[in-house]
Amino acid sequence: MPHTDAPLLRALRGERPERTPVWFMRQAGRSLPEYRDLRVGTRMLDACLDPDLASEITLQPVRRHGVDAAIFFSDIVVPLRLAGVQVEIVPGRGPVFDEPVRSAADVDALTARDPAEVSAAASPVAEAIARITAELGDTPLIGFAGAPFTLAAYLVEGGPSKEHLRARAMMHADPVSWHRLADWLARVAAAFLDVQVRAGARAAQLFDSWAGSLSPEDYRAFAAPHSRTALGGVHGRVPLIHFGVGTGPILPDMRLHGLADAVGADWRVPLDQAAGMLGPDTTVQGNIDPALLQAPWPVLEAHVRDVLHRGRAARAHIVNLGHGVPPDTDPDVLTRIVELVHAEAS
Ligand code: CP3
Repeated sequence: MPHTDAPLLRALRGERPERTPVWFMRQAGRSLPEYRDLRVGTRMLDACLDPDLASEITLQPVRRHGVDAAIFFSDIVVPLRLAGVQVEIVPGRGPVFDEPVRSAADVDALTARDPAEVSAAASPVAEAIARITAELGDTPLIGFAGAPFTLAAYLVEGGPSKEHLRARAMMHADPVSWHRLADWLARVAAAFLDVQVRAGARAAQLFDSWAGSLSPEDYRAFAAPHSRTALGGVHGRVPLIHFGVGTGPILPDMRLHGLADAVGADWRVPLDQAAGMLGPDTTVQGNIDPALLQAPWPVLEAHVRDVLHRGRAARAHIVNLGHGVPPDTDPDVLTRIVELVHAEAS
């Protein structure tokens, strides 16, 4: 089977392969005991930049679950680290920056760094991907990056926050600095995606996890143009998936004027409704409720069947969760979902 016939790639082209493709955001991670074993003694971002660890961790869920895609084991803040920004991922918390970027002067200092530094420092990423694709065979590897708004939500705050108030305030209080920051983040994300695609990623996903915290007007004015820049460099080279949480009201905007081949929906939007909002030219991805991974199997099974049924309203469907795999998920449940999706007629 040539690479381009992989079910994931066919679904991204708008076809309906015999088998509905399925993969899980955060499939590589703490739900897997083999992941927890490998990570002992290594900090998250060091693991991301160790080709042995990053390649092995990327492959673990593919071997275990038989999913239709690998997602590169890395993090949205890895390109910032590669650009020389001081950042750590604190377990149980998330990305934390030594120096939040809040004032116009902070933005000027950050954006003086050349996004080309990302490509120059990215050899561990390229090496990991070369190893992964050598072992994956026909299963495609998805590369990814964080969207400028979601990256800024961490960077301006200095760490995780609930409502991303500081980033959203900057948009209105100092739009010039905001656009300068977001454009720089877009070019950093684009450089990271470019490295992954050159090294062998066959699709790319942009995570704008926190886009749902923006009003539609603010999303269009302050976030979407920069997300287009982030994806622009790999557009036409690989198919593109765009995902965010709580994006029901802005789903049509998440198409980025047709730049995205697929849009991911979280669990709050019924997929048939999402398909109607996205129209005939966009594949839908989603949207199993991560909370239901804890439910008794018959309840979860009925939910997965409902997701598959509603997904038929779209031109094509890639099954996924509505957000990432929670760390306390029983991995056997994920394997069972893959078996169920593959056994159903598409
Ligand atoms: O399997 C995969 O999906 C690929 C790897 C991946 C990770 N992070 C690994 C990771 C991907 C695609 C991401 C993206 C990412 N990182 C996002 C966007 C997706 C989303 O979840 O909305 C965001 C917002 C981040 C930032 C981040 N990194 C957070 C909030 C956390 C969790 C912190 C915690 O401990 O709860 C991380 C850490 C992280 N990234 C882990 C993994 C496997 C956990 C690290 C560990 O083992 O402790």
